[in-house]
Amino acid sequence: MKSYQNMVIPKLLGVLLVLEMISGIRFGADGLSMGYYIMSCPFAEQIVRNTVTRALQADPTLAAGLIRMHFHDCFIEGCDGSVLLDSTKDNTAEKDSPANLSLRGFEVIDDAKKKLEQQCPGVVSCADILAMAAKEAVFLAGGPVYMIPNGRKDGTRSRIEDTMNLPAPTLNASELIKMFGQHGFTAREMVALSGAHTVGVARCSSFKNRLSDSVDNLDSIFAKQLSNTCSAGDNAEQPFDSTRNTFDNAYYNGLQKKTGVLTSDQTLFASASTRGIVNGYAFNQAMFFIDFQQAMVKMSMLDPKEGSKGEVRGNCRKIN
Ligand code: HEM
Ligand SMILES: *[C@@H]1O[C@H](CO)[C@@H](O)[C@H](O)[C@H]1NC(C)=O
Ligand SMILES: *[C@@H]1O[C@H](CO)[C@@H](O)[C@H](O)[C@H]1NC(C)=O
Repeated sequence: MKSYQNMVIPKLLGVLLVLEMISGIRFGADGLSMGYYIMSCPFAEQIVRNTVTRALQADPTLAAGLIRMHFHDCFIEGCDGSVLLDSTKDNTAEKDSPANLSLRGFEVIDDAKKKLEQQCPGVVSCADILAMAAKEAVFLAGGPVYMIPNGRKDGTRSRIEDTMNLPAPTLNASELIKMFGQHGFTAREMVALSGAHTVGVARCSSFKNRLSDSVDNLDSIFAKQLSNTCSAGDNAEQPFDSTRNTFDNAYYNGLQKKTGVLTSDQTLFASASTRGIVNGYAFNQAMFFIDFQQAMVKMSMLDPKEGSKGEVRGNCRKIN
C-alpha cells in the first residue's frame, strides 16, 4: 500500500498541475479544490466509489436517493451535510420535515463514513461524502463522469423550517426559474438539473394535484396511469420516466409526450420559456450530459462552509 502511494501521489500531483493550468480551477488551496484529499486521504474518492458501487449492486434504486439527497443538502444552507443530521430532543431536523419526501440512502453515507474514519480519521466531511456519492450514482446509473472539488465542511444547523426553501412540485416554470435564480442558476441550468428526474420515483402525494387540475398539460392516457397509481394510496410510487434506474434523456422525451409526472416537470415543456431547452435535450443526450455535469458541479459548490466555518463530523447523523 505504502509503496503504491509513493508511486502514485507524485504522478497525480503532476497531472493536477497540468489540469490546473488548463482548467483555471485551483487545486489544494484553502476552500474547495480539486485533489483536496490527495495528501490527507488519497483513497477517499475510491472508498466512496466502492461503497456506492456495492450499494447500487444490491439496490439500483438508491442512485436516485443519493442524487436527490445531495440536491436537498445543497439547496438548504449550502452543501454542508445538514440533510444527514438526525433530530435531537430539542431540535427537529430537515429530514423529519414532511418535505423530506421519502429521502433515501442515509445508510450508504454512514457506511462510507465508517470506512473513511478507519482509513483517515477526522478528515473527510459528510458533505463531501454525499457530494462524491451523488456523482458516483450519476455515473453508475449511466450518466456522465465528471470531477467535483472537495473541502466542504459539515454544518451544525438542520432545522425543519428550512425545508420551506425546497421547490414544491406544484411550481410552474417561471416560479422555478425564479427560485433557481436565487441560487445563481440560469433557466437552462434549472432545466438540466431537473433532468435528475431521469432516475427515481415520485409518490402519489407529490402529483395528485394533477388528477384534478384541468388546466394542467397532461396526456389523457397517462392521466389514467397516474390515477391508477394513486388508487394504491398516497405513498404509491410512480417512476419519473420509462427507464427509472437509467440516467438518460428519456425524461425529456417523456415531457414532449406530456407524460411528465410532476407539475414542475411538465411545466418545463408547457412553458414557451423553457420548451426549446427540453426539445434540445430530448434530441441530443450528449448536450444534456454536458449541461447536467456543469450544473451539478456548480450545485455542489453552493455556499460551502469552508475552513473553520464548519467541522468534520465523526458520525454523519450527529454534530461533534
Ligand atoms: C426543479 C425543482 C424540483 C422539484 C419541484 C422536485 C421535486 C421532487 C419531488 C416532489 C420528488 C418526489 C418525492 C416523493 O414523492 O417521494 C422528487 C424526487 C427526486 N428528485 Fe426532485 N425536484 C426538483 C429538482 C431536483 C433536482 C435539481 C435534483 C437533483 C439534481 C432532483 C433529484 C431527484 C431525484 C433523483 C428524485 C427521485 C428520488 C427517489 O426515487 O428516491 N430533483 N423531486
Ligand atoms: C420524513 O418525515 C416523516 C414525518 O413527516 C418521518 O415519519 C420519516 O421518518 C422521515 N423520513 C426520514 C428518512 O427521516
Ligand atoms: C406561475 O405561477 C405564478 C404564481 O402562482 C402566477 O402568478 C403566474 O401567472 C404563473 N405563470 C404561468 C405561466 O402560469
